[in-house]
Amino acid sequence: MRIGILTGGGDAPGLNAAIRAVARRAFQLGHRVSGVQNGWAGCIEEGLIDELTPASVRGILPLGGTILGTSRTNPLKEKDGITRVIQALKHGGIDALVPIGGDDTLSVAAALHEAGFPTVGVPKTIDNDLSVTEFCIGFDTAVGVVTEALDRLHTTASAHHRVMVVEVMGRDAGWVAMMGGLAGGADLILIPEFEVTLREVVAHLYRRRGEGKLFSIIVVAEGAKVPELEADGGGQAEKDAFGHVRLSKRGIGDLLSGNVERETGFETRVTVLGHLQRGGSPSPTDRIWATRLGVAAVELIVAGKSGVIPIRRNGGVEVVPLADVVKETRRVPKELYELSRVFE
Ligand code: F6P
Repeated sequence: MRIGILTGGGDAPGLNAAIRAVARRAFQLGHRVSGVQNGWAGCIEEGLIDELTPASVRGILPLGGTILGTSRTNPLKEKDGITRVIQALKHGGIDALVPIGGDDTLSVAAALHEAGFPTVGVPKTIDNDLSVTEFCIGFDTAVGVVTEALDRLHTTASAHHRVMVVEVMGRDAGWVAMMGGLAGGADLILIPEFEVTLREVVAHLYRRRGEGKLFSIIVVAEGAKVPELEADGGGQAEKDAFGHVRLSKRGIGDLLSGNVERETGFETRVTVLGHLQRGGSPSPTDRIWATRLGVAAVELIVAGKSGVIPIRRNGGVEVVPLADVVKETRRVPKELYELSRVFE
């Protein structure tokens, strides 16, 4: 059998570990492997499917990014998109596909399965917002980046008695902000799930000053809602192929920082961590679970399964329908949000 591998959506540290795992297990079981370049774009445009060999996946375990390239191309938005994808895969001699991605990529994967093409996914997104699974490739590394940034920002914030606003990724779910903020000792964490007003932020900062705390660290997810700032931030509506507004252009961190300084008079600085959170070498957890789930995906394909995805649940690998992980956005629960408020 020839197994195809594709990485789609935003890149994440650990994608190469997954590609290596899929390929190595497939070779071990006597199968051939092809890499589709640049996500679903590689199935729509011609000539973007290449043979992968043991040599082409050697040495990639610690590398960030993806050797296959990625894109946000969405075949569901193209005329006859799924039919064209299947044609391209068949033309490339591919019998079954392992797409590695988040909700967008895996929605296309589910459609491919529905259309009859054998497909088994692998969960990836630094946003950590897929349903059911307790692990998504890239999230652990992103949390590590935020934690290190907060450690560094603490010392300079303290030296200058400043407010530091740190904008992190997280469109609809605030997992990176919440876990990074908890690990890095943020004083206030603003996430899309729970609205906080500018008035509350300002009151919080005054209270801290009143208690003799001369600096504050605020972590804000790019998709967080601060009602008083909505009018300012709503203008930037550039969207990708999956219809998502490019939140980095919304600039919630900058807006919040400017408004906080104006309202309080406290010197305030903003740091936007942006794509630093997605770059560089994967953490051991991302490498290990990308490896476990990549191997599991191939074993499912070889066993003739389709429309499913291996995930982490209760600390082990379990297999669930692809449709289950994309059916809703997994959000930060109230309990964790309340936990973060203990440290305000
Ligand atoms: O991968 C998901 C994500 O990290 C979102 O949190 C963020 O809004 C988006 O990617 C930005 O990605 P890009 O700049 O590649 O479009």
